[in-house]
Amino acid sequence: MTAYRIAPSILSADFARLGEEVSNVVAAGADLIHFDVMDNHYVPNLTFGPMVCAALKPYAAVPVDVHLMVEPVDDLIQSFANAGADIITFHPEAGRHVDRSLSLIKDAGCQAGLVLNPATPANVLENVLHRLDMVLLMSVNPGFGGQSFIPHTLTKIRQVRALLDAFEAQTGKRIALEVDGGIKVENIAEVAAAGADTFVAGSAVFGQPDYKAVIDKMRAELARV
Ligand code: DX5
Ligand code: ZN
Repeated sequence: MTAYRIAPSILSADFARLGEEVSNVVAAGADLIHFDVMDNHYVPNLTFGPMVCAALKPYAAVPVDVHLMVEPVDDLIQSFANAGADIITFHPEAGRHVDRSLSLIKDAGCQAGLVLNPATPANVLENVLHRLDMVLLMSVNPGFGGQSFIPHTLTKIRQVRALLDAFEAQTGKRIALEVDGGIKVENIAEVAAAGADTFVAGSAVFGQPDYKAVIDKMRAELARV
């Protein structure tokens, strides 16, 4: 049976009370804290960096999942590892040497992942599967919370699930498959049925007053997949 994980994105949290927001969403049942790093260069928005990650780490009693939407990538890897990141993912288009960047993440003691934009083909994964702990499929174009799930992502989830299952059959290594953008109670079961096991949810969680109620509803949906 698949162990599903829910990763609330603090991009939609109250930035004036971030520590409290992280504590509250962990108490509400978050499995990971998703930390969206935007640089106003790779994506048209600007959020937070390693200093904020380090400040929030004591409030995150679960692993911190750092999604780098920055260009270039390599300089920030060690900074985020030092700031307490447990997982670091980046977009292959944003770095010149994807294999090297993945190695830097592993050498820094973190789990490593690649993020595929809606238009990025899945074959960028093929030559680096042995370096990956996670694949993150964007189901919106990166840069903003609160966008609508792009339905074609379901086809891509099935395609990448097959690739990861074949890799696991060969090597015994399981790579997590995370989906990010427009995930809510109404569609999480469909996304899981397509083959995802880790679900980022920003506005769906932080847009409601009761985080536990939303996460419980998501888990109830996942239980019927
Ligand atoms: C978008 C970010 C997402 C975003 C998801 O670039 O990577 O993590 O916060 O937000 P929702 O769940 O609102 O689509
Ligand atoms: Zn993200």
